[in-house]
Amino acid sequence: MKVLVTGGAGFIGSNLIRLLLREAPELEITNLDKLTYAGNLENLADVAGLPRYRFIRADVADPRAVERVFKKGFDAVLHLAAETHVDRSLEDAAPFLRTNVLGTHVLLEAARRHGVGRFVHISTDEVYGSPSAGEFFDESAPLKPSSPYAASKAAADLLVLSYVHTFHLPALILRCTNNFGPYQFPEKLLPLAIANAMENRPLPVYGDGMQERDWIFVEDYCRAIHRALERGRTGEIYNVSAGTPRANLDVLRALLALLGKPESLIKFVEDRPGHDRRYALDSGKFRKELGWTPQNDFEQALAATVEWNRANAEWLERCRSGAYRNYYRRHYTQRRKTLERWQKS
Ligand SMILES: NC(=O)c1ccc[n+]([C@@H]2O[C@H](COP(=O)([O-])OP(=O)(O)OC[C@H]3O[C@@H](n4cnc5c(N)ncnc54)[C@H](O)[C@@H]3O)[C@@H](O)[C@H]2O)c1
Repeated sequence: MKVLVTGGAGFIGSNLIRLLLREAPELEITNLDKLTYAGNLENLADVAGLPRYRFIRADVADPRAVERVFKKGFDAVLHLAAETHVDRSLEDAAPFLRTNVLGTHVLLEAARRHGVGRFVHISTDEVYGSPSAGEFFDESAPLKPSSPYAASKAAADLLVLSYVHTFHLPALILRCTNNFGPYQFPEKLLPLAIANAMENRPLPVYGDGMQERDWIFVEDYCRAIHRALERGRTGEIYNVSAGTPRANLDVLRALLALLGKPESLIKFVEDRPGHDRRYALDSGKFRKELGWTPQNDFEQALAATVEWNRANAEWLERCRSGAYRNYYRRHYTQRRKTLERWQKS
């Protein structure tokens, strides 16, 4: 089975590709990624040479480039490529609309024209906005996005559903909660906090730090995506979560304890505008219909994530300094001609 993964050089995408190459030998994977600041091919250095894996640098919002790629023929698309950092969407929403909305449209069109048999669209819990204390949103909750990022993902979800309804595209949507784990770019809360704490620098926390997030270990989510590829039903929306929301402040305290660092490193900063107080999903439908449950305990997975970042301090440093961007030039320019020939053939 030939699978196109978009955004495979990012955090979840690279974990997903590694997991699929390891656990699904029937899959041939093509990774289409623009390599924005968040895309890092070092994340996949250990699998880059495998015959079942291929990388193509392209922009999902570029219809001609996407058309060239789709001509190779794919049985399924796992669409993860997106602009993902909420703070950046507050400064400039334009790249979010371009990639998340227009890019999704370009892929849906290509999938429709080329008769792709399965399209898994990776969305987010943020499309629902913030539930009140104790409440867990299921898939019937109305869309109430708070940030331009969340609004762009909600718009993409609606486009996907319209393609199912009108063009019978065999697509489905996964809405997941906050992921954590190896290879997460150190601008997001946990890897940023780990990186700062390791250098005894302050850990910035928005507002009072009591915002709740329903954390899930990335490997559990990647298994959920694999399950959706195999068994998900066309036209369905599935929430995916571990179902145990925790306050950001508690997570940071646990992380500092794991690193043996003092809580005095926590520095409260002004809350960001429109900050959702809480995300929490009811993922009962996905668990029941697709027989999935998260395998990893939060505390153990957090300890493993801290340990991974400690063991990969050089990776972290290259992310922070921007040096990771040289990887593509160093490792892919020699292979570019071969790739270009492959794309044209
Ligand atoms: N990380 C989370 O906690 C989380 C939670 C719920 C949903 N999601 C969703 O999961 C998906 C992956 O998230 P992530 O955290 O791995 O993101 P990420 O920011 O780590 O990676 C995004 C990837 O997309 C690529 N990309 C961006 N614009 C592109 C474009 N125009 N064309 C091709 N590639 C492009 C980037 O280069 C990068 O490799 C996103 O769709 C996100 O909305 C993430």
